[in-house]
Amino acid sequence: MSNANTTVVNMVVNGQKVTGSVPDRKLLCDFLREDLVLTGTHVGCEQGVCGACTVLIDNRPARSCLMFAVQADGRTITTIEGISSPDGSLHPVQRAFHENHALQCGFCTPGFVINSIAYLEQRDTSEPLSEDEVREHLSGSVCRCTGYTNIVRAVVQAAAEVDGQRAEGGGE
Ligand code: FES
Ligand code: FES
Repeated sequence: MSNANTTVVNMVVNGQKVTGSVPDRKLLCDFLREDLVLTGTHVGCEQGVCGACTVLIDNRPARSCLMFAVQADGRTITTIEGISSPDGSLHPVQRAFHENHALQCGFCTPGFVINSIAYLEQRDTSEPLSEDEVREHLSGSVCRCTGYTNIVRAVVQAAAEVDGQRAEGGGE
C-alpha cells in the first residue's frame, strides 16, 4: 500500500516479520539502522564501494546502500545481528575473526563477516580454500585498518568448520 511518498513494506529480518512505512527513496541501510535500530549494518561510502553495508537478501550478499527499502518488500534479510545462534554462540566466521585479530576499529567487520559467510556457504568445497581465493572474493570490501592479512587468515580458518557443517548437512 502506498500514499503520496510513502509505502508500506513487509519483510522478514533476522527471522522476524517486520512492517514499516517508508519514504519511497529511503535506502534499505537507513531503514535497517533507523527504523529497525539494527545499527550493526554500517554505512561508509553510500555508493557501493566499501562493502560495509552488506547484508544477506534471500541468502545472497547485497549492498544495502544501493537498494531502496521498498525494493526489499517481501524479501528475507539477514543482518550481522542475525548471524550468531539464538543462544548467543558465534558463527564460525565471527569466532575466527576474533581468534585471528581480524579487526581493529570494526567498522568494516559486519560487511566482511556477512560477505565471507555467503561465500563459504556456497563455494565449491572440492578444493581446500586458498588465501588467494579469499583475497579475490573479498576484494570488493574495504578495510582501512588491518592490512587484510588477518581477515584472510580468519576466513581460511573458518572455511574448515563451515565445510564440515555443510558436509554434515548433506553436502549442499
Ligand atoms: S556503504 Fe554501501 S558499499 Fe559502502
Ligand atoms: S577494522 Fe577498521 S576499517 Fe576494517
